[in-house]
Amino acid sequence: MESTRNKLIEILSNNKDQYISGQDLSEKLQISRSAIWKHMNELKKDGYEIEGKSKKGYRIIQFPNKLSENTIKWGLKTNWLGKEVIHRESVNSTQIIAHDAARDGFPNGTIVVADEQTKGRGRITRSWHSRRDKGMWLSMVLRPEIEPNLAPQLTLLTATVLAEVLESYTNIKPQIKWPNDILVNKRKVAGILTEMQAEQDRIWYVIIGVGLNVNHNEKELSEVIKREATSLKLETNKEWALKEIIQEFLHTFEKSYEYYLENGFSNIKRKWEHYGFKIGQEISIKTFNEEWNAPFLGISEDGALVTKTIDGNTTKLYSAEIDWFR
Ligand code: BTN
Repeated sequence: MESTRNKLIEILSNNKDQYISGQDLSEKLQISRSAIWKHMNELKKDGYEIEGKSKKGYRIIQFPNKLSENTIKWGLKTNWLGKEVIHRESVNSTQIIAHDAARDGFPNGTIVVADEQTKGRGRITRSWHSRRDKGMWLSMVLRPEIEPNLAPQLTLLTATVLAEVLESYTNIKPQIKWPNDILVNKRKVAGILTEMQAEQDRIWYVIIGVGLNVNHNEKELSEVIKREATSLKLETNKEWALKEIIQEFLHTFEKSYEYYLENGFSNIKRKWEHYGFKIGQEISIKTFNEEWNAPFLGISEDGALVTKTIDGNTTKLYSAEIDWFR
């Protein structure tokens, strides 16, 4: 069913400037003309604009901007990531749906995408504003065969993928603020939340959630976050097609993830440090009993921030309050 519809879209898109008759389509796809008609109606529901003219046939006029399982899959160049798509108009959090899907046995690479989240989750029990149709609200179900203690590397990997995609797709210059906020012009445009179910030496599954502010205007970024947040539209003065960004992200993620599983973390570390906000510069660190300034030297294999102690020794920090002197 689904592959017939994909073939149908393919034929229609290859014949964009001309009509193709119901008869031709029915021969090419080996289905009846009334089945073709039904598929056309389904495509229209998905937001495709298709013109049907008697005696001439069908012609595709406009691809949908609306997200749906089909529109995300159509044109997606991945091998396994996003082959299973769960799309919902409105959810509490795509993370919750993804956890359910993972527990129900959905395969590695399943993705959950929503038009809006009513209880979007951020890191450290924060919330994440996820306005309808304005951003990429996406969670991925992954079943990597790596040790649970390496899972933070996946978050850093995701941050580098986002930075790369934003740079190549929208031409802006993103930076990654440790551990994994994506900044543009010092304001946050995207965040990543990784959650996992694991035993001591085995990961059952990992859910990586990505929130990217895409088409918000100034007013639509909520009052609270306005000063600290931004969107691609605000940075580029342009609306972006969510579907295409999602596809670019999934494609780049798949390649990067496969390379990581084969070759390890060093490539990710290098890329992360390339985009790292304030790398090589002074930051202010506050632990529960001390406060000092030191250079931000880079990240370690386990995703810690590498810096200097008050005595000048190199040290790793996993959690500390950091003033980035923005
Ligand atoms: C952060 O920076 O605090 C992380 C934000 C992560 C937000 C994404 S949006 C898709 C997925 N579903 C959620 O509820 N959260 C993540």
